[in-house]
Amino acid sequence: MNSTKNIKPEYKELKISDIPDGKGIVVDIYPEDRLISVIITRVGEQISGFHNICSHAGWRLDTDDGVLLFDDAGDIICSGHCAAFSGKDGSFLGGPGKGKPLRKYPLVIEGETIIVR
Ligand code: FES
Repeated sequence: MNSTKNIKPEYKELKISDIPDGKGIVVDIYPEDRLISVIITRVGEQISGFHNICSHAGWRLDTDDGVLLFDDAGDIICSGHCAAFSGKDGSFLGGPGKGKPLRKYPLVIEGETIIVR
């Protein structure tokens, strides 16, 4: 859900219920016209934000169609070369790369609202 009607919003607001439990979504924002892509995951009550930049080769983790891939355990699978990361804390779980976790992205959570800015 967009916080503005701009095609390139500077920030976005979502409801916690917009994030499927055990999975996550990708949100792109454009502060000062600069793209920042953010992964937001939900594991029960825990909401986490990560930069959508794989620690292997620096690609986006989602597919070209913007789909974020998960395995049956709810871990994030990079669409590039299938590195796996915890959906809970972004830690590296396996695959190509040097074991570096996803970089956390700070989210603002006010009640049921998540603000990505
Ligand atoms: S870019 Fe993600 S596994 Fe290679």
